[in-house]
Amino acid sequence: MSGRFDGRVALVTGAGAGIGAACAARLAAEGSFVGVLDLRAAAAKATAAAIRAHGGTAVALTCDVSDEKQVREAVTELVTSFGRVDVLHSNAAVLDADVYGRDRDLDGLDVAVWDRTMEVNLRGAMLMVKHTVPVMPDGGAIVLTSSVSALVGDTVHAAYGSSKSALIGFTRYVATMYGSRGVRCNAVAPALVLTETARRAMTPAQLADKAAERLLPWACSVDDVAGLVSFLLSDEARCITGQTVAIDSGTLAHRPQHAVHQWRDGQ
Ligand SMILES: NC(=O)c1ccc[n+]([C@@H]2O[C@H](COP(=O)([O-])OP(=O)(O)OC[C@H]3O[C@@H](n4cnc5c(N)ncnc54)[C@H](O)[C@@H]3O)[C@@H](O)[C@H]2O)c1
Repeated sequence: MSGRFDGRVALVTGAGAGIGAACAARLAAEGSFVGVLDLRAAAAKATAAAIRAHGGTAVALTCDVSDEKQVREAVTELVTSFGRVDVLHSNAAVLDADVYGRDRDLDGLDVAVWDRTMEVNLRGAMLMVKHTVPVMPDGGAIVLTSSVSALVGDTVHAAYGSSKSALIGFTRYVATMYGSRGVRCNAVAPALVLTETARRAMTPAQLADKAAERLLPWACSVDDVAGLVSFLLSDEARCITGQTVAIDSGTLAHRPQHAVHQWRDGQ
């Protein structure tokens, strides 16, 4: 194993599945020691085991990112193993049916859905940054996972979209607060990435609508996102901070309705 992250220590949250698992694997493949953090212990262990099976170094950390005590303990455990943290990918979000699935009309919204969404998606990112920056001895790099849902409105998921919009503001604050210490912070904003969670949440009609919104014939994969995250965390991005990069196959680069009609007329 060798590459851009040789000898560096990475921490990835929500790394038990999907985008986070792919990012953890990518950072490990590029030479990083990786803390694989997830709420689900078995999932974190599985990702860490897969990294080790490919010759990488990883430790599984079980933690709810919305709980400050657990975050403090997880970061301490990683620092005890590897001495420091150099890069953080704060990626965990609450996407289960009981929260994201009930994030629908505002007039019927259970406030507990709003609160849990903010707790995990926004407070979780804040807690990860709060406890990681102090153990970045030589500067560092942070990427937060936002979403295209942060950049446009929709008829559902106001809590989710608002939490992801707030992450974009938070990215700029972190970049501003810690830039002088050599800490960079950026966000990525993916459109639909067909993780297992996304597949479960979408109907065939919704998937077709998403396909119609894209300019490119292909959707983004977890590996596409991992490539972007790895670039932003690497020294190749040393002059990039405070930015949000959409990775969306062109979804936001145009007025979606126009492409929808073009696509439908072409069928
Ligand atoms: N998949 C998409 O289409 C898509 C699009 C835009 C943005 N995103 C964002 O990308 C990130 C990853 O999405 P994904 O599709 O890979 O999801 P996923 O469900 O595959 O993985 C999310 C992981 O986060 C973990 N998690 C949930 N709550 C947690 C908590 N409180 N503490 C620690 N870990 C927790 C889950 O256990 C899970 O392993 C999320 O931030 C999501 O909002 C996803």
